[in-house]
Amino acid sequence: EKGAYPHYMLKEIDEQPAVLRRLLQEYKGKTGSIAIDPAITRAISEADRLYIIACGTSYHAGLVGRQLIEQIAQIPTEVHISSEFSYNMPLLSKKPLFIFISQSGETADSRAVLVKVKKLGYPTLTLTNVEGSTLYREADYKMLLFAGPEIAVASTKAYTAQMAVLSFIAVAVAQGKGIKLDFDPVHELSLVAQAMERMIDEKALLKEAACDYLSVTRNAFYIGRGLDYYVCMEAALKLKEISYIQAEGFAGGELKHGTIALIEDGTPVLAFATQENVNNSIRNNVQEVTARGAHTAIISMEGVTAQPGDKIVLPKVHKSFTPLVSAIPLQLIAYYAALQHECDVDKPRNLAKSVTVE
Ligand code: F6R
Repeated sequence: EKGAYPHYMLKEIDEQPAVLRRLLQEYKGKTGSIAIDPAITRAISEADRLYIIACGTSYHAGLVGRQLIEQIAQIPTEVHISSEFSYNMPLLSKKPLFIFISQSGETADSRAVLVKVKKLGYPTLTLTNVEGSTLYREADYKMLLFAGPEIAVASTKAYTAQMAVLSFIAVAVAQGKGIKLDFDPVHELSLVAQAMERMIDEKALLKEAACDYLSVTRNAFYIGRGLDYYVCMEAALKLKEISYIQAEGFAGGELKHGTIALIEDGTPVLAFATQENVNNSIRNNVQEVTARGAHTAIISMEGVTAQPGDKIVLPKVHKSFTPLVSAIPLQLIAYYAALQHECDVDKPRNLAKSVTVE
């Protein structure tokens, strides 16, 4: 039930800190650190390469997950869109393991890949929110997202839960391999939950940003680099699907190779700048589009990348986990933009909650 909330989407956005805290409980080991099923850690450690397979928002969570798994657990990882992978399979490594990410566990495109790779005899792991769903039943290994039912068509809390569970995999496999982490994951992820809460309390600011940047426009750009780029892809998808504003998530450095031609007077360009190593370069990209008339805003991180004049400043979290916090403003901006455009937030046109056709 959505109770006092006007929309399920808003309720589900607000639930994200609680979902993250629940996940930290569900995946807690005896020593208080993160623990996952040892059989899963073993299977992943035996693989020479991981293949993450997903669609839409789950694919975007997979892109972030790949970076975490490669950086923290040091296992080469690829991410593929299910519907592309099915007929355009890349050359596989000798010992692949497949990770399916699916909120519903019923997505036909993802299931088609699962069936195919199982036939080839490869191990499979499903991350899903729905226990007993098709992808849950048919995979060798499974991990639940514990996000609770997600009713709004636009995925929000499942997205952050997926990134959290992928971070648990990265951490648990790293620990299993004896890789020393230079941070305490449980502590850092608790800080993430707090930071999410602080952003949820900034609804007035995010609503104002949506009004200011997105109320009259028909198109918009999100730009970022590294992890922020993946966040931008999700930000653009969320905006498109619920507000019908044509949006693109773009790698900051790639703009000048063509897309910058689309920038006109007043074109909204929102930049995520949470990563210290690319802070200067993404700000240069913002200048490039500002000089061509774009209406720009920077979303940065307190004590890391923030500078005076930034529109939205996120509380500081560990650099690997910034997408979990960025999720809140991107979702709320899309939500308020959709309200501005008088769209049916929970049931956008042409879309279904689970896509059971290929
Ligand atoms: C976007 C959205 C979709 C789903 C996609 C995959 O908000 O919800 O892009 O992420 O259809 O669905 P699942 O995760 O159920 O496989």
